[in-house]
Amino acid sequence: MKNDNIVWHPHNIKKLDRANQKKQKPCLLWFTGLSGSGKSTLAGALEERLFGLNRHVYLLDGDNVRHGLNKDLGFSDSDRVENIRRIGEASKLFVDAGLIVLSAFISPFKQDRDMVRSLFDEGEFIEVFMDTSLETCEQRDPKGLYKKARSGEIKYFTGIDSPYEAPEQPEIRIHSTEANFEQSVDQIIDYLHAHKIL
Ligand code: ADX
Repeated sequence: MKNDNIVWHPHNIKKLDRANQKKQKPCLLWFTGLSGSGKSTLAGALEERLFGLNRHVYLLDGDNVRHGLNKDLGFSDSDRVENIRRIGEASKLFVDAGLIVLSAFISPFKQDRDMVRSLFDEGEFIEVFMDTSLETCEQRDPKGLYKKARSGEIKYFTGIDSPYEAPEQPEIRIHSTEANFEQSVDQIIDYLHAHKIL
């Protein structure tokens, strides 16, 4: 074990103090789904809606985090596990800071999502499953990556030659199309009201 001689230092300002200062209940909305399922777009729209409601929000996005904190990681199973572990810990810090955090990562493995859930208090981790079929994602193919995956140019692409384990009981399930996009934002806002987060 690497950290036998490290002792947690309890500081005086706590999560609740920081949350109260911001007059909000911090939480983590964890968007999961295939590439092209609409995670980033919906998370971005929700961030704008919450920001407009004067909430202190922060969005962590897969492609962006892979440009910085996780730029040393690829798409092997073990790199994806480490990707999600780091994002989980980073999200925990932001929630501890009193923020409403939105994370948009494929996060294909159930075990890793459950590990992130276990880092949080009851009710703080809200799994949002973008229930968009592979067929639809592949038709959209916004970055042309499915095409590359089918031709073998990209290996281990989620849904093609790397697995995606769909959540069985997500807190929120989204059947999103461009036409009902604003309704999907409303669906999440309604959930947050019903659970007294807003
Ligand atoms: S995760 O599986 O580790 O959670 P993450 O959400 O960070 O993935 O990154 C996924 C994004 O990386 C996709 O939206 C896509 O743009 C890009 N990408 C590049 N190669 C792959 C791949 N082999 N599988 C999935 N996504 C890939």
